[in-house]
Amino acid sequence: MYNKEQVISLQNSTKEWLGEKKPIEIDSKNIEVLRDLLRFHEHRYYVENDPLISDYEYDMLYKKLEEFEKDNPSLITKDSPTQRIGVGLIKDFPKTQHLVPMLSLENSYDDEDLLDWDRKAKELSGLSEIEYSVEPKFDGASISLIYENDLLIKGITRGDGETGDDITPNIRQIKSIPLSAEFSKHNIQQIEIRGEILMNKNNFKKYNDSLIEEGLPPLANPRNAAAGSLRIKDTAIVSRRNLEGFLYHVSYISLLNENKKEEIHTHSDMLKLLWDLGFRSPKKEMKVLKGINDVIDVIKDFEKERDHLPYEIDGMVIKVNDLGLQEKLGMTSHHPRWAIAFKFKARQATSKLLSVEYQVGRTGAVTPVAKIQAVPIGGVTVSSISIHNEDYIKEKDLKLGDHILIERSGDVIPQIVKSMPELRVGTEAEIVFPKNCPICNHKLFKLEDEAVWRCVNLNCKAQVVERIIHFVSKDAMDIKSFGEANVRKFFDLGILKSIPEIYDFDFNLLKDIEGFGIKSIDNLRNAIEASKTQPLHRLIYALGIRFVGETTAKTLAQKVNNILDFQKMSEEELMKLEDVGVKVAKSIYEFFNNEDNIFMINKLMELGIKPHKQQHENIAGTLSGQSFLFTGTLSKLKRSEAELMVEKNGGKLLPGVSSKLNYLVTGEDSGSKLEKAKKIPSIKILSEEDFLKMLPL
Ligand code: IVH
Repeated sequence: MYNKEQVISLQNSTKEWLGEKKPIEIDSKNIEVLRDLLRFHEHRYYVENDPLISDYEYDMLYKKLEEFEKDNPSLITKDSPTQRIGVGLIKDFPKTQHLVPMLSLENSYDDEDLLDWDRKAKELSGLSEIEYSVEPKFDGASISLIYENDLLIKGITRGDGETGDDITPNIRQIKSIPLSAEFSKHNIQQIEIRGEILMNKNNFKKYNDSLIEEGLPPLANPRNAAAGSLRIKDTAIVSRRNLEGFLYHVSYISLLNENKKEEIHTHSDMLKLLWDLGFRSPKKEMKVLKGINDVIDVIKDFEKERDHLPYEIDGMVIKVNDLGLQEKLGMTSHHPRWAIAFKFKARQATSKLLSVEYQVGRTGAVTPVAKIQAVPIGGVTVSSISIHNEDYIKEKDLKLGDHILIERSGDVIPQIVKSMPELRVGTEAEIVFPKNCPICNHKLFKLEDEAVWRCVNLNCKAQVVERIIHFVSKDAMDIKSFGEANVRKFFDLGILKSIPEIYDFDFNLLKDIEGFGIKSIDNLRNAIEASKTQPLHRLIYALGIRFVGETTAKTLAQKVNNILDFQKMSEEELMKLEDVGVKVAKSIYEFFNNEDNIFMINKLMELGIKPHKQQHENIAGTLSGQSFLFTGTLSKLKRSEAELMVEKNGGKLLPGVSSKLNYLVTGEDSGSKLEKAKKIPSIKILSEEDFLKMLPL
C-alpha cells in the first residue's frame, strides 16, 4: 500500500505535526494532509499490525483534527477519520439488496472430496492441471461492502443471501475497513466486496471476561460475538468491541470507462489490489499452488497452525486462481464451481444434558453446572459444562434430557451453543433452580440488576472453603504446599475451619493422616511461616473483597500503611484512587465496615501476619524511573524474584501493557502481552538475559 519512500516521508511529516517545539498548525489548506497521516497510521495499526507511533501520539494527531473540524464543520468530509464515530444510536437496520446474491460454498472434509472437486474442475475446463489459491476460511460474520466513487456507501449483512440488513454505521466503526479507497485510479466506479467480520481471540477473551465480571454468561465463540456486535444499535459500543474485517472476494465491479480493459486477471492479484487500496485482504496468508496435491499439503500445514493464529478459522477456502476460468466454470444453483471450503475437524459436538449440579462460590454465587454425556471435542473429553445462571437456562431453553450442541473454541472453555427442542420425546424435565443454598440451605437472594442467585450466609461452608482456597492461592498469599486439595481435605476433617486457623494450625493432627510425612509437614509449616511477610497487596487480594483483583489490590496497598486504615476511608475517598469506581468503592467500604471481617484481620495480625508495604517509589537505583512487566515463563528466575529485583533497584512494575511501559521482559510462551507490546514502538522487549544485564552486579 505504501512504498518505502512514502513511509519515510509520512513518518517525517508525523514528527513535524507532533513537533515538540513548533508543531504544524492545522488550517483549511493542510487538513487533508493530516487526514492522510491519520489514515496511514490507522492502516499501520489495524491492517498491517505494525504501528509506527504510540497510541498517545495518534491521539494527539486525532484530537488536532477533531477540534479543528468542530470549529469548522463545513470542512468535514464523509471519509474523515473522525467520521467513524459520533453516529450515536441507530433506529433500525433497513433491509438492502446485495448487488450480487451472496452464495455460500460447497464444503469438503477430506482429501477424497478435494480430489473429486479438482477432477470435475479439470473435466469442465479441459485442463490437465489447475492453479489454485488457498486462504483461511475466517470464522466470523459475513458481510458485503459497496464502494461508489471511492467512498464506502454500504455495509450489509448476509441475510438470506439476496437481501441483508444495512449495518453501515456499525461497519464504519471497524478501523481496518477504509472509509474511502482509490478505486477510481483503477477505473472502478462501483464495487461490491465480500468479507468476514471477526473478533480476534484476544479481544474475545477480554470481552468474555468482562461479561463474567458483570455476572453475565460468556459467549460460546468469537463468531457469535462478532455477529452480535454488528447488530448493536449504539455505534459507540460497537467501536469498543474492536472488530476486524478481512475482505476476500470481489463480487461486482462497474467500470468508469467501459472502453478501458480490466486490469486484474487472477484472484491473487485481486487480493493484492485490495491490500494496496488499504483493505485487510488475506494477501499474506494466501498461497498460490499448481495442482490439488500441493493444496492438500498446505491445508494440512495450516491446520497445525490453527491454534497459533490470533483469530479463529474453521477451515480453508480453495479458489481457482484464474478469474477467466472462474467465469467459465460458473455456478450450480447453490454454489460456485470455482471454489470449495475445506472444513477443519469440528470443535462442536452433540451430547445430552443429564443432570444439573449447583456450585457455591467464594462470593456466594450459585452456579449451575450441567453434567452431560461425555464427548470428545478437539482433543478433550467434556462431561460437565457451566450453564451460568437461571436466565441463561431460560434463554437457551434447556431441559433435563435435552440433546444439546456444544462448542469448544480454541482455548476457550466449552459452552452450550443451543438445545435441540425438535428432538424432544416428552420425557424431558424442567430445570428447577433451587430457592435455598444447596450447601447450607440458607434462602438464596438475587439483586435486581444481577442475574446471579447468591447465598448470603457468610458462614456457608462452601463459601468458607472457597475463601480459604483463594487466600492460599498462588497469586494471593501463595502458601505453596497448601493447595486446593489440602484445604478441602482439612476442612472436611474439621481441622481447618477459617482463614486465621491457617496460622494456628495444629500440625500434630496431620501425623495420622495418610500422605503426610515429616517432610511434607515441614514444607507446609515453612510455607505458612513464609507467607506471614508477604507484601500488603497480596493480603488485600487474598481477602477476596468483591471486585478487588490483583491490580486494584496493588493500587490500594500504595495508599495505606496499615490494612486497617481502610476502615477510616469513605466511599468518596476510595473512588479517588486509580481504577476504583462506584461499585468497587462500595464493596471495599462494606468489607471494612463489617465486624466479622475486622475481627478476622485482627486475628491474623495477632497470629503474626506482618504484611509489608512494597516501596515502589523513592528507591534510587539503576532502574529508577523505568517500568517493567514480565510475561511468559522465565528460565533462571522465578517471576516473583524478578519482580522483587525490579523494585529493589528502584524500578516500577506495571500491571499491563500500555504506552507507560518501558520494558517487557519475555520468557518462554509469551502470549498476548508480547503481541500487544510489539504494537507500541516505545516499549523495549527484553529477554531474561537482557534484563539480568541491566541489574547491578
Ligand atoms: S469466498 C462466492 N473466502 O465462508 C464465494 N468465503 O462456507 C465467496 N468465508 O459464504 C466466498 N472465509 O461467508 C470466501 N477466505 C474466504 C472465506 C469465506 C470465510 C465464509 C463466507 C462463505 C462461507 C462459505
